[in-house]
Amino acid sequence: MQAKQPKRYLITSALPYANGPVHIGHLAGVYVPSDIYTRYLRLRGREVIHVCGSDEHGVPITIKARQLGITPQQVVDKYHAIIKDSFEKFGISFDIYSRTSSKIHHKTASDFFRKLYDDGKFIEKPSEQYYDEEARQFLADRYITGTCPKCGNESAYGDQCEKCGSTLSPTELINPRSTISGAKPVMKETSHWYLPLDQYEPWLKQWILEGHKEWKTNVYGQCKSWIDGGLQPRAVSRDLDWGVKVPVEGAEGKVLYVWFDAPIGYISNTIELLPGDWEKFWKDEDTKLVHFIGKDNIVFHCIVFPAMLKAHGDYILPDNVPANEFLNLENDKISTSRSWAVWLHEYLQEFPGKEDVMRYVLTANAPETKDNNFTWKDFQDRNNNELVAIFGNFVNRAMVLTHKYFEGQVPQVGTLTDFDHATLIEMKEVKTKVEDNLESYRFREALREAMNLARLGNKYLADTEPWKAIKADEARVKTILNISLQITANLAIVMEPFMPFSCAKLQRILNADSVMLQWDSLGCATLLPVGHELGQPELLFEKVEDEAIAVQLQKLRKSKEENEAKAAAANAKVPEMSALCSFEDFQKMDIRVVKILEAEKVAKSKKLIKMLVDTGLDKRTVVSGVAEHFEPTDLVGKQVSMLINLAPRSIMGIESQGMILYAEDATGKLHLMQPQVEVNNGGKIC
Ligand code: 2FM
Ligand code: ZN
Repeated sequence: MQAKQPKRYLITSALPYANGPVHIGHLAGVYVPSDIYTRYLRLRGREVIHVCGSDEHGVPITIKARQLGITPQQVVDKYHAIIKDSFEKFGISFDIYSRTSSKIHHKTASDFFRKLYDDGKFIEKPSEQYYDEEARQFLADRYITGTCPKCGNESAYGDQCEKCGSTLSPTELINPRSTISGAKPVMKETSHWYLPLDQYEPWLKQWILEGHKEWKTNVYGQCKSWIDGGLQPRAVSRDLDWGVKVPVEGAEGKVLYVWFDAPIGYISNTIELLPGDWEKFWKDEDTKLVHFIGKDNIVFHCIVFPAMLKAHGDYILPDNVPANEFLNLENDKISTSRSWAVWLHEYLQEFPGKEDVMRYVLTANAPETKDNNFTWKDFQDRNNNELVAIFGNFVNRAMVLTHKYFEGQVPQVGTLTDFDHATLIEMKEVKTKVEDNLESYRFREALREAMNLARLGNKYLADTEPWKAIKADEARVKTILNISLQITANLAIVMEPFMPFSCAKLQRILNADSVMLQWDSLGCATLLPVGHELGQPELLFEKVEDEAIAVQLQKLRKSKEENEAKAAAANAKVPEMSALCSFEDFQKMDIRVVKILEAEKVAKSKKLIKMLVDTGLDKRTVVSGVAEHFEPTDLVGKQVSMLINLAPRSIMGIESQGMILYAEDATGKLHLMQPQVEVNNGGKIC
């Protein structure tokens, strides 16, 4: 049974943290599905707004600012601009993309807190927390490091050990230190406001577990396990100087917890968008509120925020929270700190004009019910075998043949065969299939049904073979091409929510206007009138070549190597110092800067490279066991350090006259020791 149609829709997308750029995991999990849904509703003529913005508070932003030596505001200004730009370029059509550092948000969040405070909805409780006496501030968990009690990692954080993955509390750390001053923190009493979630448990049980059985199983399951586990009061304030100030006397130095103010961002964004008209979206039961989020946000959107809204009393509750699972990248978890990601701003530069390809791949492979994996090979295959070979190829054949045989004008339909009828019936069914899936947040399936229309078109042309029929029966070819062009026009409608840029192009190629291509007419076999002048054929998609994929894989490999080196360096045990040598011994060693003129691998050896070097005094041969670390081409032309008075030695029959020096990193990889600037060959190292 179809639910009653709401008067209007309020779509929200999770506010991304403005402490780094956004990646394909964000796009797949939240922003592409929310955009598809919103575009679809708009096409159906429903009243809808889609709100989002940057989440600009919280401890990670203050940490980033400290690392970069800039203010938190400068951090969020930088990333807000990058994120906003990426979303725009990917066609994520928010009605507003604002930010939580705005005045209007501070006021909205502050008023919200104050109402709950005045209504006695919070409990205030003292607690003991780590305090840095030198920096004179309470320490958020991330600001404390120490030894992990589980694995001995000496640089575990107060909330988590990144080595063994354990969740920790700061008091569990052995030998805790403040990351701000390095001082040993002390316990000090503080006081915070808590939302007593336990009091909302019976209501949440009823509202979600009884009232929202239709929610996605991953969402419902997570809610059930939180509720069954028993809800605890949650602190809604923090001792921090970055965020929305707690609007209560005596609360100096305290701000609202970022997870209290962020969802209120949905409200403040709506107020900013529609100052005089926002209330109907938040306070009228006829509005359908849908939150698009990733799975790590489920508890906040299904339990905490609804409890806040309920406590406030003036607001509607979400009708659905179609959270997605996670997208992995090349079989590994996407991670900002390990730089294991495909960043949107980089993709936009490296694959210009291919925004829809990424939208398509991420939807076709969306992590809707379980974690999924993005691979560059799959990206290439889906582009080449689906977008180019099916969608693009069909459209192009229909266009080119019509230009070839009928001067680019939509030809007359004649008598229809059974096959024509069957094809048109199948085309007609696409509308309901796509709509049913979109209404139920099954975007992947909806896209599959839409692509089936292109498959249908391809099959129709392959079976009817107009290029053969043209000699014997022109009237038949007219019918075939008319039907093919009607399928093409239908594709321009049905693909719009998924691939808006390609559909705009297709509309131009067809020389059609948006009146001809209405969603309501989807499935119709007379979208393009007979005699309509088509535009010129153009390819909708182009092949992605192997080289472009190899570049991306190489980039990821480099990231992995750098991370391994970083991780190893952080945990490296520095080798013991060798026995003392006298100054006289040291003086015997003549270490110089030399230039490598030639380099080649030594035949029959895996390790050896033979080099010709310019020592400034002469040119001579040196052999190094470094073939597993460098290619000969990495070495030629480089200035390096060399012990030039080492007695000559024969290595595999080659006389080596000296020894080149290398620096070994924690993974055992060797690096060249080069002067900062070019110096004369033979310059002394002293
Ligand atoms: O997980 C995140 O990226 C959060 N910044 C999402 C916040 S969503 C909402 F509550 F604002
Ligand atoms: Zn550990």
